[in-house]
Amino acid sequence: MKTIEIPRPDDWHLHLRDGAMLEGVAPESARHFARAIIMPNLVPPVVTKADAEAYRGRILAALPQGSDFTPLMTLYLTEGTDAADVADAFTSGVATAVKLYPAGATTNSHSGVRDLGKVMGVLETMAEIGMTLCIHGEVTDPAVDIFDREKVFIDTVLDPLRQRLPELRITMEHITTKDGADYVAGAVKNLAASITTHHLMINRNAILAGGIRPHYYCLPVAKRELHRLALRKAATSGDARFFLGTDSAPHVDPMKECGCGCAGIFTATNTMACLAQVFEEENALEKLANFASLNGPAWYRLPVNGEKLMLTRHDEPVEFPSHIQTGAGRVTVFDPMTPVYWSVEA
Ligand code: DOR
Ligand code: ZN
Repeated sequence: MKTIEIPRPDDWHLHLRDGAMLEGVAPESARHFARAIIMPNLVPPVVTKADAEAYRGRILAALPQGSDFTPLMTLYLTEGTDAADVADAFTSGVATAVKLYPAGATTNSHSGVRDLGKVMGVLETMAEIGMTLCIHGEVTDPAVDIFDREKVFIDTVLDPLRQRLPELRITMEHITTKDGADYVAGAVKNLAASITTHHLMINRNAILAGGIRPHYYCLPVAKRELHRLALRKAATSGDARFFLGTDSAPHVDPMKECGCGCAGIFTATNTMACLAQVFEEENALEKLANFASLNGPAWYRLPVNGEKLMLTRHDEPVEFPSHIQTGAGRVTVFDPMTPVYWSVEA
């Protein structure tokens, strides 16, 4: 048996939902992570400082007794967002970032942005105060193939935006392509990217080959193998611009296993063990801390967590629960489809 120790990790992209689902999934993230950037795509979305304060209160109330997990709040950017409220939320410490969903790109994104021109005032304010914009980087044009939507977004939306407002700090969230990894690695400043655990472990065959498997469907959708390999290279490189954002996104099983299933993979329960497996396979265990514990805080200008997380490598594969039971219903846990020999020490 072998153990490794890393500073307690953070999750720079997490869906905690609300109500009974929040109560069911919050402990799963709080067990291993010290902080997480919380996605604002509730119904209705978390748009204002007041919304974020109220939601943060509900998250804190859902945590297990004694948990010191810190939710870092984001504001959902709409075409009606008030720049002064955003600035106030940031300077008062209520919100860490703003989230841009192109309207219609994913779950609960219909209040998102159709015309970037309408939010330029907010983005200019954010650039001035050093507040980060987290972007779901996919175009929504039905004419663009779903597997090309990230690359087309980079070429037609992200790159022009960065040229227009080079001082704006942007996190390209959950990148899924070699194009995304190359674009971020080629940027001189003010650009970083989060990568999910599942996009390091599965390619699109998991969803479609040998039967349709809805629990592997998420957005951006997993791409072909060459992209997964490029993401692995970026994540394990130690490059400070790449860090973990799990995009753990719970939906109850009936919403996944139906004629038009929701996008989202729930990984909070086993994501750190899976990640250790990936880094071991890449002979890069010494870079796990960079990806999961160091690069994110450096980008978001926060201190590294003081406590440690210990991971153990076993001789036999570890079994994870196939699902968790929440008050909202049963949620399937990500099955990495490959043996994982790692577990997190309690
Ligand atoms: O797969 C996804 N699920 N991608 C997203 O962007 C949203 C998320 C969700 O909220 O379920
Ligand atoms: Zn997400």
